[in-house]
Amino acid sequence: MAGCQTRLRGPDILFVATPDAVGLEMLRLARVTAEDLVYDLGSGDGRLVIDAARVFGARGVGVEIEPQLVQQSRENALKAGVADRARFLWQDLFETDVHAVTVVTLYLRDDVKLK
Ligand SMILES: C[S@@+](CC[C@H](N)C(=O)[O-])C[C@H]1O[C@@H](n2cnc3c(N)ncnc32)[C@H](O)[C@@H]1O
Repeated sequence: MAGCQTRLRGPDILFVATPDAVGLEMLRLARVTAEDLVYDLGSGDGRLVIDAARVFGARGVGVEIEPQLVQQSRENALKAGVADRARFLWQDLFETDVHAVTVVTLYLRDDVKLK
């Protein structure tokens, strides 16, 4: 990512995208509304956060350790017209404060989820 001066440690799990239909169903099951603040921990290309904003009107934040995926997510949010409601942080999910969050989504390995 342009302007990055440092590196975070490597990912705990590599990027594998959730199929769009599955992601939408997850958000429906969580009954996401425009009142929600949705965090995707390990957000990949940003699709869950972008759909939370685009389809359900929520505010969303994606937390991702791979800087090129953060950049791609920001571009995807711009293209989807939701850059005002979908933000992406280049950050370790284990360093993330989720106190204000109303919905958390995860697609991680079981051992990483337990941690
Ligand atoms: C299986 S993918 C899921 C991507 C996205 N949530 C989805 O459902 O399409 C897991 C993502 O977590 C990221 N990741 C792994 N370890 C991480 C960490 N410690 N902090 C933040 N992101 C991490 C990976 O780079 C990858 O993009």
